[in-house]
Amino acid sequence: MKVDDRLEPNVFVIFGGAGDLTWRKLMPALFDLYRSQSIPAHFSIVVVDRVDLGEEALRKRLHEGVNEFSRGGTVAAKEWNDVAKHIRYLQGDFKSHATYTELNRLCEELETEWGSKAQRIFYMATPPFLFGEIPTFLNYAGLSADRERSRLVVEKPIGYDLASAMALNRTLASSFDETQIFRIDHYLGKETVQNILAFRFANPLFEPIWNRRYVDYVTITVAEEVGVEHRGGYYDGAGALRDMVQNHLLQLLCLVAMEPMVSFDADEIRNKKVDVLHAVRPIAPEAVHEFAVRGQYGKGWNGGKELCGYREEDGVPPDSQTETYAALRLFVDNWRWQDVPFYLRTGKRMTRQASEIGIQFRAVPHRSFPAEATLDWQPSRIVMSIQPDEGIMLRFQAKLPGAKLLLRPVDMRFNYSESFKTPSPEAYETLLWDVVNNDATLFMRADQVEAAWRILMPVLDVWKAIPPSDFPNYASGTWGPDAAQGLLTHPGHRWPLPVELHSGADSRLMPPGDRAESPRP
Ligand code: BG6
Repeated sequence: MKVDDRLEPNVFVIFGGAGDLTWRKLMPALFDLYRSQSIPAHFSIVVVDRVDLGEEALRKRLHEGVNEFSRGGTVAAKEWNDVAKHIRYLQGDFKSHATYTELNRLCEELETEWGSKAQRIFYMATPPFLFGEIPTFLNYAGLSADRERSRLVVEKPIGYDLASAMALNRTLASSFDETQIFRIDHYLGKETVQNILAFRFANPLFEPIWNRRYVDYVTITVAEEVGVEHRGGYYDGAGALRDMVQNHLLQLLCLVAMEPMVSFDADEIRNKKVDVLHAVRPIAPEAVHEFAVRGQYGKGWNGGKELCGYREEDGVPPDSQTETYAALRLFVDNWRWQDVPFYLRTGKRMTRQASEIGIQFRAVPHRSFPAEATLDWQPSRIVMSIQPDEGIMLRFQAKLPGAKLLLRPVDMRFNYSESFKTPSPEAYETLLWDVVNNDATLFMRADQVEAAWRILMPVLDVWKAIPPSDFPNYASGTWGPDAAQGLLTHPGHRWPLPVELHSGADSRLMPPGDRAESPRP
């Protein structure tokens, strides 16, 4: 393990460190980070939790998590011990001043031992009802005072609706400065999500056509094959709109639709992103049914396996009205995107896992080719695939070999793993490294979170007021409710089938004869 004397000493405090998130994500990510990057010569991971667990038992549990979830797989005892000796356990109640006094004492003790001030990162891996309380206690104990070195990391969900998100942001702001607050959306840590900016703004080819004149419509799909698994209790109080759209899908929309940034400064990028959210056309309550569709999975089959319906899942009431699928048609009212539909959809228990953004271009203004040459015509398309395949596909027309003039679509594929032959870091690795390096680019600012809630509030309110009458309305293992087709009212618009980026995959993924309109003047 590389140690770098130049990195500032670091105390990484995890509240709720004995819980699932730390076990499954945070500790494996910290471990992979320490394995692949240099670590500060002085660092400590302080786990704060209520459970009665000795330091050794905690280390053992974290070791198991690292073995199971770390990118590098099972970790040899020697390597683990190198990191484990930096882990401390502080058992205490999150709502007791004594816990924070002890934490302060521990931080000071470490600083004295290291002979230097240390960064103090406070990560709340706790249930959301503590998100307002922990920062207040930290502030009271003087632990938020150093604006340069103290940082607070907040997991989603940031609020349950606009009002609660605003209230939480106000509470956070009373203890920490906005520059100290890092709100995590793990989607932003994904390599391919970050690549959207590189693709758009590091190549002169695409930006000139990235607008309403050439783009017919945009689809953003985040499909999950899994159901709610063991999270029924939490999920039933949230639903797909809150769990996925408010954060992950709207973040993707921002990256696709934003204006070019002037510099790579965190606030410059976040300003450009929030501009997109402000430009999203509000959905009138009486028109919600035209712009939003919800669904809930029922029983079904996938991969030869019979699957239960959402209402049969653990922790889910048998008459649950919670949506496990949500689709929206949004418009971004500005010069670049006026009247271009952005179709967003996400769902659990869909046919297969696929997160991707499709940019569907309009057809050429005039077809000079004979009609029979263009029977298989498909307008050009760019697909940015986020997972499970990571890469980009560009579809365009080519002439079929032979004497006859026949055109058909072909795909050019860039596949991350094939091109770079190096594994991508996990999202949490990227994000934790950025917190340590005080880079807030990939984190959500308060105004952004609130702007996202503002877009969704009419839908949430109407869906609450008018319970669904047809749930469950899609079978497990399918692409969601039929009603979602109704959102694509423009001629020729389709929910695309996800692309495959490995070599040899089929290009004919849109139904033949799928034609876009001519370019706008
Ligand atoms: C989380 C949601 O934010 O994202 C989960 O709460 C969802 O419901 C998960 O399954 C999906 O993330 P990923 O990285 O597995 O696509």
